[in-house]
Amino acid sequence: MDEWALFNDFALHAGLDRHTKLLARYELFRRVVELPGDVVECGVCRGAGLLFWAKLLEIFAPRSDRRVVGFDLFGAEPKRTHEWDEPFMPEVARTASVESLLEIARAQGLERRVEIVPGDASRTVGEYAAARPGWRISLLNLDFDNYDPTRAALAAFFPRVVAGGVVAFDDYGAPQWGESDAVDEFLRGSGYVPRALPWALSPRAYVVKGEAAGSSAQAAPVAPAAPVAPVAPGAPQGS
Ligand SMILES: C[S@@+](CC[C@H](N)C(=O)[O-])C[C@H]1O[C@@H](n2cnc3c(N)ncnc32)[C@H](O)[C@@H]1O
Repeated sequence: MDEWALFNDFALHAGLDRHTKLLARYELFRRVVELPGDVVECGVCRGAGLLFWAKLLEIFAPRSDRRVVGFDLFGAEPKRTHEWDEPFMPEVARTASVESLLEIARAQGLERRVEIVPGDASRTVGEYAAARPGWRISLLNLDFDNYDPTRAALAAFFPRVVAGGVVAFDDYGAPQWGESDAVDEFLRGSGYVPRALPWALSPRAYVVKGEAAGSSAQAAPVAPAAPVAPVAPGAPQGS
């Protein structure tokens, strides 16, 4: 593969949306670079985000053992959770294979940075968190688009985001997806106000853990409403 040609093609032909997507991810990552905890990519698809986060970790936290943990179906068609959800575009529904993504990571010396969890995230996220009571997240990128897995990921993972960590909502406010409802339901009454990076199309919104109105930096009063993800005894809940 001719890396120079690939880079030139991207720089010449990719539009502002694609450029700002990378810059927005860098901007959010920059805010958590000095925080402990893994990056979580909810929705891997072809792996563009997964590998980009892994590269940012390798560049900016080379001595750390921080990783990016990616969740996607791998092999099954994503389901709409509302009848008004837009069908997944064929190019989105066609994920890469786990093996091909790990092979790419291996070829770039990034294997230790990447973990992939296949299966329906409405189930896998809760199981993953419950099996790792001490596990923490610095950056949670929600990009499942639809309601069910987004709601489950918020319930399972938000309590594991460290103070000052970033939770990004890739499609918050997009008219054709249920992600917005899952986010609004979860944050209702918490004091969190989703904010945007005004110069980027996506991620469309984000919150910073602990920056809820009326909360201290240490305690953000978010109580996961749905018992989707039982957090193991002893693990901090909803703060
Ligand atoms: C927009 S794509 C993710 C793009 C990726 N974050 C990136 O930027 O490269 C959305 C992904 O969510 C996945 N998805 C949707 N529902 C899911 C579910 N219930 N469980 C796991 N993955 C799901 C789809 O398979 C699809 O690959």
